[in-house]
Amino acid sequence: MKTIETLSFLAQATFPQSTLDPAGQATERLADLGWLVYTIFTVVTLLMWGLIVWVALRRRGSLDRHAPVDAGGGQGWILVGGLLVPAAILSFIFIAGLQGMSAFPMTDGEIPAPEIRVTGHQWWWDVRYVAGGPNLHFRTANEIHIPVGRLVDIELVSADVIHSFWVPRLHGKVDLVPGLTNRIRIRADAPGVYEGQCGEFCGAQHAKMRLLVVAEPVEEYEHWLASQRQPASSPTTEFETRGYDLFMTKPCALCHTVAGTPARGGVAPDLTHLASRRRLAANVLENNEANLMAWITHAQSLKPEALMPNVTQFTGEELQAITAYLRQLE
Ligand code: CUA
Repeated sequence: MKTIETLSFLAQATFPQSTLDPAGQATERLADLGWLVYTIFTVVTLLMWGLIVWVALRRRGSLDRHAPVDAGGGQGWILVGGLLVPAAILSFIFIAGLQGMSAFPMTDGEIPAPEIRVTGHQWWWDVRYVAGGPNLHFRTANEIHIPVGRLVDIELVSADVIHSFWVPRLHGKVDLVPGLTNRIRIRADAPGVYEGQCGEFCGAQHAKMRLLVVAEPVEEYEHWLASQRQPASSPTTEFETRGYDLFMTKPCALCHTVAGTPARGGVAPDLTHLASRRRLAANVLENNEANLMAWITHAQSLKPEALMPNVTQFTGEELQAITAYLRQLE
């Protein structure tokens, strides 16, 4: 009974980062290739085991009654099964792979201007929306919103080491290489939140360099764009104002930017609309009050070697005030 329950749970469970569950045209091609390869390898495996069983059953008598190994015979099997068949199968898969690659619609001849520029950092994603005039540009982090059903061009660069942009349900991996500008063109066919992950080992916290792509209907997307272009909301209560003052006069503002305030630091994630994001710390923690406080005071336990230090100089009340200020940055 337990086994059946477990199996049905597994069957129902969704796999948020499965290439075999495509939500965009690029991953559809990858999934097609994947299923082709799995099918061929399953057939080959079954055939191999069939032959092994057949040989085991066919064997009769003891070894000394058989002809010596070097007496010849069986070379035909080796030539066909060991050389011709594998060469044919691997060539077929190679050509199918090349076809899939060339079908990725990276450009229509000319390189389009990107809508979004993503910069990889150890270990978070800086995201800049760069379409239209400079007055429309804005910056965010770790969460990318796109409209459903439309191709979106993203420029990929790195600030330090090689990272890899990977949202398995939307596209294959494209690396972010220092000194090089790469591009990826993604499209989500259905609204949803697509989980991504840095796909190239980039240091101690590579596994905690996660990414979210939120695909929304055009109206919702436009609404999101408009709200993100606004400067940060001002504190409304006395307690939030206290948090604001602490944020601006203590180390926070040296590294982080909050648009419309004196905080102009460029080396850490932009916090202008922090409260509107789903998660914290490159999508490792849910975005709630407790996690935000824990992140401020214990970033080095949650993500050792990240550039965010443990900020332990605040009293409990000061920490609560800063958190209250950050929590209203919708
Ligand atoms: Cu960035 Cu792995």
